[in-house]
This record gives sequence, structure tokens and C-alpha cells, in this order.
Amino acid sequence: MTQDEMKKAAAIKALDYVKDDSIVGVGTGSTVNHFIEALATIKDKIQGAVSSSEQSSERLKAHGIEVFDLNSVDVLDVYIDGADEITKHMHMIKGGGAALTREKIVAAVAKEFICIADNSKQVPVLGNFPLPVEVIPMARSYVARELVKLGGDPVYRQGVVTDNGNVILDVYNLDIIDPLTMENNINAIVGVVTNGLFAHRGADTLIIGSPEGAKVILPL
Ligand code: A5P
Repeated sequence: MTQDEMKKAAAIKALDYVKDDSIVGVGTGSTVNHFIEALATIKDKIQGAVSSSEQSSERLKAHGIEVFDLNSVDVLDVYIDGADEITKHMHMIKGGGAALTREKIVAAVAKEFICIADNSKQVPVLGNFPLPVEVIPMARSYVARELVKLGGDPVYRQGVVTDNGNVILDVYNLDIIDPLTMENNINAIVGVVTNGLFAHRGADTLIIGSPEGAKVILPL
């Protein structure tokens, strides 16, 4: 099985968590793109979706799935999204696709976060994947200097503007032994919109695509 086939297996399994007549929280990325295709096969059974990016919204609409404004939705049972890294504690790094802020907002509203990923995303410790940080453009250099003080090596993601009109710094070489504290410390820097650590709001369930198919993993 290729990595992409493993992503697809995880994405299809996530349909088990979609309730009839519900509005589904939908993330962003190549794994979620498989999920959107799967969701389209049951679109008559759901009301629609709330999306974490313009990219996913376009795909959902192209499949005939209604996209709701989060502000008009009271209850979101599940949010289904990928990850760049995930630990056995269900802490994640996200934002490889630059959609981290909207992802974090939709995840905060949802009762349950279902992470779908291929098996390359499971790691013992976060941080090999550079941590994305969304930053207000005028604060970019200041925030970069503050991130260096935290031990990281920030790199400006050239040519990328987020759906919120901001920029991304990818932070290499951070020592993320304590993801909860690191998430707080980075968010406390003035000019940071959010960072890609999902520790305070981690996943509730992980569906891993593996050569043997999709496996459901719960937190320890
Ligand atoms: C998007 O900003 C990210 O958080 C994605 O969820 C993450 O990068 C996973 O993407 P893939 O499913 O493409 O690996």
C-alpha cells in the first residue's frame, strides 16, 4: 500500500463517525481530500459541513455539499482532519497546509476531534516537522526574534498568505518535550495569531492508515 492509499483507508473509515443529519467539521490537506470524496457518497444523509479552509470549502461545494458559516452552527459533533505529526498522547503538529488557525477554531467548537493520517505521521516526540506559526505580517521579524529566544530557527514561508491574510513562520529545531507549555509560550508572543501545536485541544480518536488497513487508536 502507498502512503496515499493509507491516507485514503483512514479517510474512508472516518465515515463511521459521521452522524445522520449532522453538520460535519472538515479539515484541510491531502488526507482530508480523500475524506471529502468519501463524504460526497453520503451527502444526502448529512446537512452539510463547516470547513477549515477556502481550499476545502471549494472541494466540498464542488461535490454538492453545503458549507455553513461556523457562526451559524450551534453544535458540531465531529471535526475530521489530518496532522503533520501525532504522538500517543494525541498531541499534534498541524499547519503544513497553512490552515492552522481555522483548523484550531473549528476543532475548539467540535465535541470530538477525529484525526486521520497515514502511519508516517506517528512520532514519539513532536518537532521533527517544523512548527508552523501564523503571524500578523507587520510582526514577522519581531516574532521571529522571539521564537529564536525559545530555541527555534524560524523560516519565513515565502509566497504564502493564509486565508486570514497573514504569513507563516516554520520553526525548526524546537525542543517540544512539553507541548502544552510550548503552545502557550508561542501564543503569548505579540503578533502571533496561533501556532500549529494542538496539545490543549488534541485529537480524541486517531484513525491510522497502515499496510493492514485503517486502525482506530484511542488516547492512552
Ligand atoms: C493543514 O494546514 C494541515 O494541518 C494538515 O492537516 C496537515 O498538514 C496534514 O496534511 P496531509 O493530510 O496532506 O498530510
